[in-house]
Amino acid sequence: MKGILREEVFGTLADGRRANLYTISNGRGMEAKVTNYGGIVTSIKVPDRDGKPGEVVLGFDSLEEYLGPHPCYGATIGRFANRIGSARFVLKGKEYRLTANEGPNHLHGGRKGFDKVLWEAETILSEEDTSIRMRYLSIDGEEGYPGNLSVSVTFSVGEDDTLKVDYSATTDQSTVLNLTNHSYFNLADGGSGDILGYELQVEANFFLPINRAALPLGPIRGIAGTPFDFRKPAPIGFRIHEKDEQLLFGEGYNHTFVLLGKGQPPARAATVRDPKSGRILEVFTTEPGVQLFTANFPGDMFRGRGGGFCPSRGGFCLEAQHYPDSPNHPEYPSTVLDPGEIYRQTTVYKFSSE
Ligand code: GLA
Repeated sequence: MKGILREEVFGTLADGRRANLYTISNGRGMEAKVTNYGGIVTSIKVPDRDGKPGEVVLGFDSLEEYLGPHPCYGATIGRFANRIGSARFVLKGKEYRLTANEGPNHLHGGRKGFDKVLWEAETILSEEDTSIRMRYLSIDGEEGYPGNLSVSVTFSVGEDDTLKVDYSATTDQSTVLNLTNHSYFNLADGGSGDILGYELQVEANFFLPINRAALPLGPIRGIAGTPFDFRKPAPIGFRIHEKDEQLLFGEGYNHTFVLLGKGQPPARAATVRDPKSGRILEVFTTEPGVQLFTANFPGDMFRGRGGGFCPSRGGFCLEAQHYPDSPNHPEYPSTVLDPGEIYRQTTVYKFSSE
């Protein structure tokens, strides 16, 4: 494919190392920007129904803003996306204690997760795709996890207006692993309006109810008759304000849906339509779950691009992943990676318009 790749300096980290920004476009109006700081997708531009390209993710244009506090905008999350209860787990008879960075629990890989490290990047031009591959070696004991883990994440922009994210990893000791991307989408204009009117469909009959700390209770729960029923397309905001215990605990949607499909090839997880711009996002993944997060926490945590305003619920995340707290739930699909095995996950974000 005749994709276009541009590499530029994004900024300098406190220790003097340089982070780059890579722009990948497909020559047909879709363009994605990714930095090797945190494996962060900083921007995705795709055409609306009139063919006008526009921003569809929340994010920043400067490295400095990503070095400050932000709710994981666009980042690669690891070693373990989402929460691990009491920041501990037992693997092969041994207890591991992780960094507790959300009260007593562990969230998104700890204090310095994969979203805050510098990855080594290389560019790849193939017949089909234009890609950036990023590698990171997470050393034994990092944030409390066992084993030296060698991780690679490849971002590819395809001719069919897709951003494909392929993850792979190997380890020299048994460990647990759950990688995802934390992009917040705003299909209208990248953030100046809320996402409550977007129509969402999720390929799930069950979700994972949570406690007040957003940890899964354990058993899966049927969505029929609940505000979690997105089997048919429904506006994200249709039932979000109901006095439902789960919505109160999550302050909105902050829940994992149990996907109908899993494994290769990536199966459809969710479809979102913005009736105003006509833009459509389809998410396909190999993972057993998808976390819907509707940017719930008000205050100044959510900031707009260029210092601009970001309204409450100005973005939604569909984080394709394993179930939260899996290492403490033997009944959930396993997140253990043993030496000699290769971890793989693929998630595809496909854009179109109508
Ligand atoms: C995930 C979590 C949320 C929040 C965001 C990042 O979606 O489930 O509770 O922590 O990440 O701020």
